[in-house]
Amino acid sequence: MTTLHEVLKQAELEGVAIGHFNISDSVTLNAVFQSARDLNVPVVVGLSEGERKFFGVRQAAAMVKSLREEHDFPIFLNADHTHSLASAMEAAKAGFDWIVYDMSTLPFEENVRETKAAVEALKTVRPDILVEGEIGDIGSGSEIHDAAPDLRKGLTTPAEAKQFVEETGIDTLAPAVGNMHGMLKSMLTGDTRKRLDIERIHVIKVKTGIFLTLHGASGTADEDLRAAIAAGITVVHINTEVRLAWRRGLETALAKHPSEVVPYKLLPLAVESVMQVVNSRLALFSHPRLNPKAAGAR
Ligand code: G3H
Ligand code: ZN
Repeated sequence: MTTLHEVLKQAELEGVAIGHFNISDSVTLNAVFQSARDLNVPVVVGLSEGERKFFGVRQAAAMVKSLREEHDFPIFLNADHTHSLASAMEAAKAGFDWIVYDMSTLPFEENVRETKAAVEALKTVRPDILVEGEIGDIGSGSEIHDAAPDLRKGLTTPAEAKQFVEETGIDTLAPAVGNMHGMLKSMLTGDTRKRLDIERIHVIKVKTGIFLTLHGASGTADEDLRAAIAAGITVVHINTEVRLAWRRGLETALAKHPSEVVPYKLLPLAVESVMQVVNSRLALFSHPRLNPKAAGAR
């Protein structure tokens, strides 16, 4: 079976990106998996600490492992936005492939120190695990926000990105390049979209040479995502769009079948709704230059 590192390397060579989708339940996991198999592209599912608490750390690891092995398919598991070494260790020991060690709210030097220590500790337990570090401010909460958050710490500079990568020994870097967690109300209609600083991505990639992850991608203009991938983004995180699709699918099912109580008769509409989003995003990420159709579908 191909490793996650090999999958990222291949994506980087091809100038495409790998989709990372957050999950809270098996409905969303199955929808993401089915979409990736339909398109025959590798995929990553991620669970933040809150999502892991709901799903179960070992339970998420067991389900992803069973899908990967039963179908011999490259699906990987990420411990997203992990804020303590204990929680990172728990995920690493359970079998997660990747840890996002997020100390981005700390001052830069402390972030460097904490992230470096986590990389060393995690690689001692699991030498093959990938560790991501985060710098800059992209807000928190994959939710619908009334107003744009105050991203005080601002965008990542190429110089600090270079220093952070060199001093911590991380495998992947999540910079702040105009991205933001969650969506604004005005983005639900598509009237406004997030815009990215493409030149900044390009320079950070050139200066660091590391795999770059774009967090907070829900609601981003398709043309910016294409340009960001061309400029050096190798992984794109989507959560709020998935959550929104899950809710809408559920609402449709409940409205269509007001007396139904059988979960497996209602939940397929949630699966279908999540799959539409994931299909469209994966098509765009895996063929950013070739897929104007994905843009039209959004
Ligand atoms: O780590 C998760 C992502 O960064 C999701 O961000 O909710 O804006 O898609 P999003
Ligand atoms: Zn994120």
